[in-house]
Amino acid sequence: MNQQQLIETAYAMVADDKGLLAMDESTPTCHKRFAKLNIPQTEEFRRDYRELLVTTPGLNEAISGAILFDETIRQQTKNGTPFIKVLQEAGIIPGIKVDKSTTPLAGFQGEKITQGLDGLRERLEEYAQLGARFAKWRAVITIGEAIPTPGCLEANAHLLARYAALSQEAGLVPIVEPEVLMDGPHTLRRCYEVTEQTLRMVFAQLSAQRVLLEGMILKPNMVVPGLDCPTQNSIEEVADATITCFRRTVPAAVPGVAFLSGGQSSELASARLNAMNVKYKSHVPWALSFSFARAIQQPGMGIWGGDSANVEAAQEAMYHRARCNWAARRGEYSAEMESATA
Ligand code: 13P
Repeated sequence: MNQQQLIETAYAMVADDKGLLAMDESTPTCHKRFAKLNIPQTEEFRRDYRELLVTTPGLNEAISGAILFDETIRQQTKNGTPFIKVLQEAGIIPGIKVDKSTTPLAGFQGEKITQGLDGLRERLEEYAQLGARFAKWRAVITIGEAIPTPGCLEANAHLLARYAALSQEAGLVPIVEPEVLMDGPHTLRRCYEVTEQTLRMVFAQLSAQRVLLEGMILKPNMVVPGLDCPTQNSIEEVADATITCFRRTVPAAVPGVAFLSGGQSSELASARLNAMNVKYKSHVPWALSFSFARAIQQPGMGIWGGDSANVEAAQEAMYHRARCNWAARRGEYSAEMESATA
């Protein structure tokens, strides 16, 4: 393992106020999003859509890295350029989702575990040869009555740590993603408690598995009230709760915290990230960045709708969301940025 190279890649992933574009939806997830917009659910449309994303003009002004899916890392533009080459030429670091999605955790009603450790060493080697420089693994934690259990938290954290160690062995920076889901009526306080427990367990396991903290990126949820909670806290309360939680749990050696959006609206995700940077940027040891899928892609995907005539307008929307989040990293995002292009 080349530690220096891992550290350099991890810092490059959060440099210059840029963030990550998560475009690693598995085929079933991609189809779910296409179905909502009546976009045909075929390989051709998936390829067309991913081409639209990677060829968005100016994307590299706000995006440092893109997370690809196994199918996408092997695909090419219509004129035959591999997507990975398009990204590399734009100075965007290519990465790859390596988990194989979630399945019910045996013996734990309502809880999930992530699959994909079997054969991972060989897959990582292949992805590194294809040009990937970082990897991603997502664990899912559900809040409900009497869940999450310590057993579920430990199993998921252990897998994240084993995956992270294997990634570093292959020279890939691991994005460690423990996602506490927003679904449900739980309060911000409850999300805080669960996120704190989760992160404590994750960092204990990362340490036990000898993961180099300087050569990884954390991809967590923000601390937010559940989507069905009657009390929807202010942007500032979310920023305060999130940073309090991370200061107590995330070691200073980690170069960056790159949030997932998790089903928040695009504007709210940008506004909350902005609030964190306005108040805390110069008082926390890690970059406060983004690794959004839905909060970058959703408006543009809607504009595209599967119609090639809309590619340019859709790319403008992708660029706009990427720029809004770049501004949020600088603490310069404002509601006016939204109306300027409306
Ligand atoms: P969202 O930003 O849509 O939550 O997706 C991020 C991600 O990569 C989930 O694994």
